[in-house]
Amino acid sequence: MDTQRLIKEAIKIRDKAYTPYSKFNVGAALLTKDGTLYTGCNIENAAYPVTCCAERVAIFKAVSDGHYEFKELAVVADTARPVPPCGSCRQVMSEFFHPDLTIHLTNLTDTVKTVKMSELLPFSFSPDDLIRKES
Ligand code: THU
Repeated sequence: MDTQRLIKEAIKIRDKAYTPYSKFNVGAALLTKDGTLYTGCNIENAAYPVTCCAERVAIFKAVSDGHYEFKELAVVADTARPVPPCGSCRQVMSEFFHPDLTIHLTNLTDTVKTVKMSELLPFSFSPDDLIRKES
C-alpha cells in the first residue's frame, strides 16, 4: 500500500472519532508487515484521562488480532503542523515498532512530516531494560 492511500485511510477513520469533550479528531492508519491495514480514532471519556488516542486504538486493534510486526503508520489531525503524537502513544509505539519504522505525521492541509520511530522517542524504556544484568 502506498503512503497516500495509508494517509487517506487515516483521514477516513478520523471521522469516527468520539470526541464530545475536545472536539479534536485524530485518525491513524497502521500497516502490518503482512500488509493488513488497521485504523484507529481517538475515543474520549467523561473521566478524561481514560481517553485513548487514535494511534493506540489502531495498535491495540492490531495486537489483539495477533499482529506484532508492523511496517508503517500514518497519523492525521486538524493541526497547523503535522500532528505530533503524545508521549504515551510514543511509548506504546516503541514497544512494537522497529526503530527504523516509518511514521507519517500529517494534517488536513497535506503537510507531511515523515520520521522514524527512533526519532520520535530516542533513548526509550524498552523490554530489554527489564532484564537485570548479573554483576
Ligand atoms: N490525541 C490523539 O488521539 N493522538 C495524539 O497523539 C494526541 C492527542 C487525542 C486525545 C484527545 O482525545 C484529543 O486528541 C485531545 O487531546
